[in-house]
Amino acid sequence: MARRKLIAGNWKMNCLSADGQALAAGLAAKMKAAGAARFDMAICPPFPLLSTVLAAVAGSAIAVGGQDCHAKEKGAFTGDTSAWMLKDLGCAYVIVGHSERRTYHKESDADIKAKAQAALAAGLKPIVCIGETLEERDAGQTLEVNRRQLHGSLPDGTTADKVVIAYEPVWAIGTGRTATPAQAQEVHAMIRAELVGRLGDGEGNALRILYGGSMNPGNAAELLAQTDIDGGLIGGAALKVDDFWTLAEHSPR
Ligand code: PGA
Repeated sequence: MARRKLIAGNWKMNCLSADGQALAAGLAAKMKAAGAARFDMAICPPFPLLSTVLAAVAGSAIAVGGQDCHAKEKGAFTGDTSAWMLKDLGCAYVIVGHSERRTYHKESDADIKAKAQAALAAGLKPIVCIGETLEERDAGQTLEVNRRQLHGSLPDGTTADKVVIAYEPVWAIGTGRTATPAQAQEVHAMIRAELVGRLGDGEGNALRILYGGSMNPGNAAELLAQTDIDGGLIGGAALKVDDFWTLAEHSPR
């Protein structure tokens, strides 16, 4: 099954407006010059930069996403942003359940599922993140932890065109320590089998599973060549136009 790669940049809490504008505009220029790229690209800047970035990529094939959303549509939730607000601005995606949210904001699988559910209701595609810690990997719990997070976090009504999954081993995020292609593929294959079991052959085989964790222009080709790796969720290497573009160009033909 040929799944089109999705290369998604997670800027995290980086960039002031001038940097964000330049980064987004630089990528939009590359995308336009490339004509029909063979991969999909999305960038997820911090909330204050969304409008600037949306304007900078307007008319290019680059999609924009938020890095989190609240589970409710509106109300007394100071400091929060709803999926409907992101949609209203022009976003197409929202990351939910990133391990930094799971850790620093104590988000549970149930919280993440509720956020993903809100994203679907608002018409956004949630990028649902799962991944084990080093402790869990060392204890031989990698597959079990990811299976539990997957089923606990996936929204009802998941279909291949509406939801993306990102497997991000926590020990590989921002550490320069990437999962080997075989380690990543092992988890992706488990996720694929679970998706097929849950959604059936057609949807389960069509849903995209991204890898994230120190993906860079040097290791992307090998990771993106794995059977069940359908793209990347990229942090550090998404902050430079040339790095991110070169990485994306490693998507197989
Ligand atoms: P990294 O981050 O590429 O800097 O490891 C990936 C992520 O956390 O999404």
